[in-house]
Amino acid sequence: MSTYELPPRDPSKPDVCMLVGATFNDDPNELDADCYIRKTLSEKVNLVNLEEAERMAANAKPVAAILCLPHPHVDGALLDRIAPEGGKTCALVANYGVGVDHIDLGDAAARGIAVTNTPHVLNGSVADMAFALLLAVARHVVRGDAHCRGPAYTRYDHNVLLGADVGGKTLGIVGMGRIGQEVARRGALGFGMPVLYHNRRRREDAEAELTAAGVGAGGVEFCAELHELLRRADHVVLLCPHTAETTGLIDAAALAVMKPTATLVNIARGAVVDTAALTDALREGRLHGAGLDVTEPEPLPKDHPLNSMENVIFTPHRGSACKGTRDKMAQLVVRNLLKGIGGEPLETPVSS
Ligand code: DGY
Repeated sequence: MSTYELPPRDPSKPDVCMLVGATFNDDPNELDADCYIRKTLSEKVNLVNLEEAERMAANAKPVAAILCLPHPHVDGALLDRIAPEGGKTCALVANYGVGVDHIDLGDAAARGIAVTNTPHVLNGSVADMAFALLLAVARHVVRGDAHCRGPAYTRYDHNVLLGADVGGKTLGIVGMGRIGQEVARRGALGFGMPVLYHNRRRREDAEAELTAAGVGAGGVEFCAELHELLRRADHVVLLCPHTAETTGLIDAAALAVMKPTATLVNIARGAVVDTAALTDALREGRLHGAGLDVTEPEPLPKDHPLNSMENVIFTPHRGSACKGTRDKMAQLVVRNLLKGIGGEPLETPVSS
């Protein structure tokens, strides 16, 4: 892989600290989202790494903004090192991704630094992945594939790998934001599923939008109590943001009220689920299965018991990972960053 060469620093351009919290493709020959961000921004700003940003701050030349390529930890201590004067010199932290649990929003706000993310453009892709996991777990898609390739498959057996019904079964959604609505739409309109949802507050606006989209009256029901939803749902999809309140939301007590035939899909953040409690529930057959796009820790240690359970399907944090979606996220993070530096209203502020 060749590496995209950053142009020499141009003192007439603003400086932006690029924090990279994941593998980042900097191959200039691949016109992907990572490269788009780097290329487009480096025409307008100087992209500098953390060490350089710290050096610049120490020399009274702090960066004008911070770009987060998922998911570097950003807290007050880090901000004080690279943006000691807070919002007076550093306009924003622009995050490539919708989840901002790796950024201490309170610390940023206390320093007058805005935070932006890339919501909306990824709703459909994440909802698609939630359904891919739900169907794969319910219908044993991965085990079916292994069975077909293995020695046991010598003739048709109509009893092998009987799955859980999906169509017409009750879908429980935890977190009725925009992505939750997309999942509800797919479940209700595509699979004829009655939808229950739990959210911090009732979302009459979402209910109205879903009704307008053709989900029948009463097709979407708010459950003020999480455990009521878990008790009644056949398939549960987690979509809530990871916050102090949602850490360990799906704990042993929550898992204990779920139907033993239920599937659990986590496409939110790993820490929303108590991993040890989920491991016990799956090991003891108290759930049909789980589809995990995210885990805590992420990735799991290779010898973690979940890795050897057939009723678990993993994807490696791929909710928004489609070409077109990533392109839109890249364009949005670039627009937010340039608007923030230019003092224009931010397109998708998390806090300002
Ligand atoms: C998100 O958008 O939050 C995903 O986790 C990718 O960063």
